[in-house]
Amino acid sequence: MTLTAEPYKIKMVESIHLIPKEERARALLAAGYNPFLLKSEDVYIDLLTDSGTGAMSDRQWAAMMVGDESYAGSRSFFRIKEAVKDIFDYDYVIPTHQGRGAEQVLFPHLIHKKDQYVLGNMHFDTTMAHIELNGGIPINFVIEEAFDTQMEHPFKGNFDTERMEAFILNQGRDKIAFILVTATCNSAGGQPVSMANLRAVRQVADKYGLPLWIDAARYAENAWFIKSREQGYQNKTIKEIVREMFAMADGFTMSAKKDAIVNMGGLIGIRRDESTFQNASSTCVPFEGFITYGGMSGRDMEALAAGLYDGIDPDYLENRIGQVAYLGHQLRERGVPIQWPVGGHAVFVDAKKFLPHISPEQFPAQALVGELYLEGGIRAVEVGSLLLGRNPQTGKQRVADAEFMRLTIPRRVYTNRHMDVVVDALSAIWQRRENIRGLEFSYEPKVLRHFLCRLQPVER
Ligand code: F0G
Repeated sequence: MTLTAEPYKIKMVESIHLIPKEERARALLAAGYNPFLLKSEDVYIDLLTDSGTGAMSDRQWAAMMVGDESYAGSRSFFRIKEAVKDIFDYDYVIPTHQGRGAEQVLFPHLIHKKDQYVLGNMHFDTTMAHIELNGGIPINFVIEEAFDTQMEHPFKGNFDTERMEAFILNQGRDKIAFILVTATCNSAGGQPVSMANLRAVRQVADKYGLPLWIDAARYAENAWFIKSREQGYQNKTIKEIVREMFAMADGFTMSAKKDAIVNMGGLIGIRRDESTFQNASSTCVPFEGFITYGGMSGRDMEALAAGLYDGIDPDYLENRIGQVAYLGHQLRERGVPIQWPVGGHAVFVDAKKFLPHISPEQFPAQALVGELYLEGGIRAVEVGSLLLGRNPQTGKQRVADAEFMRLTIPRRVYTNRHMDVVVDALSAIWQRRENIRGLEFSYEPKVLRHFLCRLQPVER
């Protein structure tokens, strides 16, 4: 036997439905070509995000029934604390309502002066926003290979540590607040960071006395890539790899909506430093809630504690990463240009190569998102110049390093048959790609415009 299937059987189903083509055209027009403004009922296969969209296991649902809803000292909080000690070997944990809640609570205690830099491989957009809200400046040091979608590289989420160190020397230590490693690196295509690179980043951090934090939303997927691609890790368990990764950091922020497979929740983990824990605790109370629930109900904390274990199950991870790779390989075989190798949570279609006749100012990846919805009722999301926005000083549209359409796969939700439908739809668009037009704004909000903007195809 050479085949294996999903390491689960399905106990509950939710109906989905493909509305007719004319209705899809009407819905897209009504949504101003913006997938965030579509009604989910008008979507057949929803690949907008892998965040909070996973299917919980029977173990997680069972755990919810024993949630302790006490305001203080909830038993369910201690379940998370034990899981975090066991998996990450961290002493302190603060629950938050989601990842950006963790950023909001923690960052004021890491950014001490205005205009201090936060060094990252590639910061996620809410992370950038919270750095800026605290007077800091986010800056990215991901390796150049990350932007060459056709180049084979096992760890495209890695830091260019030489360039980062040169920057630190040039600016001076006091201009740097901390280093944040996003693993996997969402914005580069769900690309992993190697253990060797993490070690090199730690060395730089030690040399200049800088705190090192991990954005741990997709920690388990990153560990899986280390196990399967980095020499010396094949025989280690995911938990051993996770421990080794996190031993190199001072703490983590986590959106638990990804690898911990809950629909809502987040965490701050702190390895040993009690004073950071105390500082963050005092900010948690007014913003998120008391430190033993921080924005979550007891039952949600139970699901999260169980989900941290679900997320590091090797059978699950092999199937999960395998499904994303399956989609990527099928598309590549049909000539569709994608970020290569395929990342952990999504296939990133290279819209610059797919639609070379559309300029960044006319948002090629967003145009492709619209076409995919029209063709197959499939909802994807743009990660390119539309997301990047305008230069706040000059008002000029900024041009992104890559124009991606992200096909984000929810965890344990769709089968490979759904992936086949996505391949079928996108291959049909590939055949008629020359006829696709770029987009222009009919309404452009001032902040976080991609969520609420409205667009229309440009005149020929
Ligand atoms: N960090 C990373 C790497 C993320 O991908 C996200 C969210 C966050 C932080 C913020 O977490 O949403 O729980 O507040 N990413 C989602 C996405 C929204 O679609 O990629 P949150």
